[in-house]
Amino acid sequence: MGTIEKYMGSSVFRDRKALSFDYIPKRLPHRDEQLKKLVMAFRPVVSEGIPQNVFLYGNVGTGKTVTAKVFCNEFQEYAKKEGCGLEFVFVNCRKNTTYQAILLQIVRHFQPQYPDRGFSVAEMLNTLKRDLEKYKCNFIVVLDEVNILLSRNKTDIIYALTRFNEDSKDSIGKGFGCVSLILISQKSVYEMLDAASRSTLKHHMIEFKPYKAHELYDILSDRVKDAFFPGTVPSEIIELVSEIGAENNGDARFAIELLEQAGMQADFEGSEVLRPEYVRSAKAEAQSTVSETKLEELDEQKLAVLLACSRALKTKTSTITGEVEKIYQSVCEEYNLEKRGHTQFWKYISSLSNLGLIDAKKSAEGVHGSTTVIELREIPAVELIKKIDELLRKK
Ligand SMILES: Nc1ncnc2c1ncn2[C@@H]1O[C@H](COP(=O)(O)OP(=O)(O)OP(=O)(O)O)[C@@H](O)[C@H]1O
Ligand SMILES: [Mg+2]
Repeated sequence: MGTIEKYMGSSVFRDRKALSFDYIPKRLPHRDEQLKKLVMAFRPVVSEGIPQNVFLYGNVGTGKTVTAKVFCNEFQEYAKKEGCGLEFVFVNCRKNTTYQAILLQIVRHFQPQYPDRGFSVAEMLNTLKRDLEKYKCNFIVVLDEVNILLSRNKTDIIYALTRFNEDSKDSIGKGFGCVSLILISQKSVYEMLDAASRSTLKHHMIEFKPYKAHELYDILSDRVKDAFFPGTVPSEIIELVSEIGAENNGDARFAIELLEQAGMQADFEGSEVLRPEYVRSAKAEAQSTVSETKLEELDEQKLAVLLACSRALKTKTSTITGEVEKIYQSVCEEYNLEKRGHTQFWKYISSLSNLGLIDAKKSAEGVHGSTTVIELREIPAVELIKKIDELLRKK
């Protein structure tokens, strides 16, 4: 048998697409309450043609996007049964960052060939109005990752869309022609909205809390059935992944990715089942990539302080800031860096701690007053020393 045939053989995956980020599962365990709130909020759209605006917020991987998708699909079905036309469009504000670009995606829902230049915002809004009339439907615009717009103070599109209905008041009550909004954001950036948009949203804020381990367990169990062959993922594995997911911000995306990585490892090892060590190594790998990107973003001074911490911690689990500061001074000499004073040194320590690269905790009051104890978080000291040395030499 040739090498290719030999390794193309069996796989634990039945359908790997079920693990991809845009897969829409049949059910959404533990998101009933959010779905119910969405239905309650949008009822008047179908029953009376009155537009609604809703704000979904929560941490990364808490199911905001997938819940909005499931809601829109099902709501469209429901509206159809009630004899009411309903269309929806998803626009990602990370990919489309300007008023014009967002509006273009919206208009293209009805006219996929709509040219990307040559029309003003007012003309595009008019086109949208005519299309809603033409297709006799109500419209839900979902602005995903809207925090990007808000943090750049680009709320004019939100304002325009919330005003859209006021400018076409005659359509309200007709049963079609109104535009509703679902805004999705990682943080509660409600405060960043202008007063007018805020007042239209204030009654419909829906929170997505980080998933707990047992909730992730239910989500993953469903997903395992879709993506893996029966018997390849033991329940202990689902438990382990759920616990790790819960510890990592209750992020379902991270948990699903771990499962996928562990499955790939099983295939690579020629194993018919997923094993705990595959999960652990997938976790270590995921975290070290995160930490490496964090390292690359540090300036020389912070790298020098982190190197000092790592040297102090090469052979022990914790050290104190006094010791780190002494080593920091010699690191500066070694790499020809300017030595910064005590206050600045403290700022570096606290920003490294905020980034999650070190743990800095005040110890109990001792003979010499209280002191701060430093420990390393994700990357072992030896690896950090090597990596930082490389980075500092490059700078
Ligand atoms: N309750 C759930 N049931 C099934 N799958 C879920 C559930 N919640 C999240 N997921 C899955 O977890 C992954 C992340 O969910 P989603 O993309 O909706 O998160 P998000 O809150 O939009 O995150 P971000 O803020 O990063 O955009 C997706 O693969 C999604 O299908
Ligand atoms: Mg999302």
